[in-house]
Amino acid sequence: MTIEDDRGQGPGGESVPMSPRRSRVASRDLERYAALFAERTRVMTSSAMRDLMAITERPEVISLAGGLPDTSTFPADDFAAIMGRIGTQTARALQYGPTDGLAGTKEAIAAVMAAEDTPVDPDDLLVTTGGQQVIDLVCKALIDPGDVIVAEGPTYPGAIPAFTAYQADVVQIALDDDGLPTDALEETLDQLEREGRRPKFIYTIPNFHNPGGVTMSLPRRHRLLQLARERELLVLEDNPYGVLRYEGDSLPTIFALERASGSGANEFVIYLGTFSKILSPGIRLGWAAGPHPVIEKLNMGKQGADLCSSTLGQLLVSEYFASGKWPGYVRRLKECYRRRRDTMLDALAEHAPAEATWTRPGGGLFLWATLPDWIDTTDLLARALSRNVAFVPGRAAFVDGRGASSMRLNFSGVTEDEIREGVRRIGEVIAEQVDLYGALTGARAAARPPAPAAPTDEALADILHLPRPGDRPRRADGAG
Ligand SMILES: Cc1ncc(COP(=O)(O)O)c(C=O)c1O
Repeated sequence: MTIEDDRGQGPGGESVPMSPRRSRVASRDLERYAALFAERTRVMTSSAMRDLMAITERPEVISLAGGLPDTSTFPADDFAAIMGRIGTQTARALQYGPTDGLAGTKEAIAAVMAAEDTPVDPDDLLVTTGGQQVIDLVCKALIDPGDVIVAEGPTYPGAIPAFTAYQADVVQIALDDDGLPTDALEETLDQLEREGRRPKFIYTIPNFHNPGGVTMSLPRRHRLLQLARERELLVLEDNPYGVLRYEGDSLPTIFALERASGSGANEFVIYLGTFSKILSPGIRLGWAAGPHPVIEKLNMGKQGADLCSSTLGQLLVSEYFASGKWPGYVRRLKECYRRRRDTMLDALAEHAPAEATWTRPGGGLFLWATLPDWIDTTDLLARALSRNVAFVPGRAAFVDGRGASSMRLNFSGVTEDEIREGVRRIGEVIAEQVDLYGALTGARAAARPPAPAAPTDEALADILHLPRPGDRPRRADGAG
């Protein structure tokens, strides 16, 4: 492929845009630089979700693949008024800011955290360029090649490229309906200890998991904290969705539980928050809160990464939060997303095969559906794209090829009509697979059938850089 050649072959043989990385770089060109690239680039992975976004940006595709909040719900008048107010402080808006963030932004962060009964000391906050930067900075501060990160399985697909870029060895523990099973966590920690390995941190998304759609129970939150304390392990609590709760009572954050018990300070829990899902992902603002020495190291890492987060974005946040309108907006968002979630649940009940299961998230943006184990959702995605509908194949949320028969479905960034139509189309391609399987085997059980003919399955898996079932997690030395 040449630099100019930015189209690949789609599921039906039609021409489709290739992933940005593949499209721009011919393998011939890569070879020219091979001796110059750092060792870590051998194990770096591209985010399957971001590659998928390039494929699904065609307007005719109903994408249930994104993690996009519906920014069209933000009142245009409010936006214009905020921008007008920022316009009165031009010099400041166009200037560098302190690395740890502007005071007004920290006040807004404190307000969001207070909505989840999570007090925070402004000195323990670092404003970041999205929550994604927190994951990167935590890895930068803690991970040497080969160090262990314990994560949930599935985990946030966007965390995987950060973990692999720092050559971490990611150990994933299967989620269940109550979130991260702490018994299994304890067994894993014991096993790692026997091997002489101490994880650098435990990465968890306790509320409305992306992509799992489940929420960690209160007893497990307590137990996780207890394990972290007993073993002196850091926990990275990633909480973009906590305030997007559609039903039931909210549960305390692990960060708040730690602060409320013991010394009244945070010793082991690092908290990640973001404005992406409650205001705008485009302003790229998130934050970390945590033990002071850890935040200091993250601050140093950020100085080397980008000096400070956008001053303009931070002023937008502080102006908006100072206006007092955000609780009303979040309330409207929740109503809208709750309806979309319910529409998706109803559509799945109508169109998914009897063998399928899916989570029923009490909040957040995603649900996780699991099909019979002889269906590989990466293959299925190739077929779904030919019907102009997309989802995230489950393998994107694992480092080792697990999750092959699962998929992540997003309900926040699409209308209710699109949800109904998208799920109907996915139901159709699944039904075809089920019929084919039935025809091939005469039954819906036992051995996996020969892979159905879908000419570009391999190409798609390749474009998305997904691990295959049975793949070993990539190790720091690049082996496996
Ligand atoms: C669990 C989780 N963590 C972190 C992020 C990163 O968000 P952002 O960088 O937009 O704040 C996301 C985005 O979808 C997410 O779902």
